[in-house]
Amino acid sequence: MTTPVWPADEAAIARAAAIMRAGGVVAFPTETVYGLGADARQDAAVAKIFAAKGRPSFNPLIVHVASLEAACAYGIFPPMAERLAARFWPGALTLIVPAVAGCPIGLLARAGLFTLGLRVPAHPVALALLRESACPIAAPSANISGHISPTTAAHVLADLDGAIDAIVDGGVAAIGVESTIVDCTGDAPVLLRPGGVALEDFVAALGHDTIMATEAKIKSPKITAPGQLASHYAPKAKLLLNAHTVAGSQGVLDFAGQLRNFVPAHPIAYFDLTPHGDVVEAASRLFAALRLLDDQLGGAGHIAVAPIPTTGLGLAINDRLTRAAAPK
Ligand code: TXA
Ligand code: MG
Repeated sequence: MTTPVWPADEAAIARAAAIMRAGGVVAFPTETVYGLGADARQDAAVAKIFAAKGRPSFNPLIVHVASLEAACAYGIFPPMAERLAARFWPGALTLIVPAVAGCPIGLLARAGLFTLGLRVPAHPVALALLRESACPIAAPSANISGHISPTTAAHVLADLDGAIDAIVDGGVAAIGVESTIVDCTGDAPVLLRPGGVALEDFVAALGHDTIMATEAKIKSPKITAPGQLASHYAPKAKLLLNAHTVAGSQGVLDFAGQLRNFVPAHPIAYFDLTPHGDVVEAASRLFAALRLLDDQLGGAGHIAVAPIPTTGLGLAINDRLTRAAAPK
């Protein structure tokens, strides 16, 4: 192990903030997943994120800030975006807004776009790091590009040991799926990625008229983010979604015990995301479960995945599983 892992105390946050100001890269906890952060204004620092992850540089990064006020130094907030920020920040919502003229966020973090993805995270360690560093922090999920997102410091270490400067360990990321991304650059908000804020809550915050416009656009989502790649979040094993039965040697990712009866007495690999059928619990365990099953199957074979409801965070879970199952 060559990358240090520091428990998230004051000293660790101070050291991590100093590394970021000096142009280094540090993984840190957010309430959704762990992020790999650098000062978004320093292209050389942001380049290290792309290099460590093996991420295509046409894929822009989310810029994390400490408050809506801080966000306004970088992005232009139309009334709709302001309303959403007021309701959901700090939290698991990323807003795509136009960049201000002369925006100091580097073109590398923005992937050359004149829009910005901004988020105020709710995790106290992320907020402390933002305050202590005084940097806008560009941070994608702290995993190898295309692999499963990390919800613990150990997951980060497994993917990026030796490739990054430090990991701040703040325990398990509570939500477990990435932020909901909403494009606020047009007349109506467009959902680009379902995530930690449930669509139902988001729609309730916007009122009925906007709901219809939003829903209409969701049905044929326009891919404005090059990052909405088909194959993503993928384990090495092949996923078989909406399984109603299980063959002998397959691993099983279950939801509320639907596939338990098909599993032999001593299954190779079985994980129930939520025995009681709670989509919030299922989201929080999803990525750890995929890593665990992958390990147990030796990085090969098949995982049968039970049908998962599309309500609440179930929408984000289904999105991630669909992309994890997409041909690579
Ligand atoms: O919860 C999260 O969102 C986590 C934590 C660390 O904050 N971050 C995360 O980042 O999931 P990442 O890089 O894995 O996903 C960011 C997504 C990408 O799909 C990217 O294309 C999109 O955000 N994005 C960023 N800036 C954008 C922009 N200006 N326009 C459209 N999409 C953008
Ligand atoms: Mg990611």
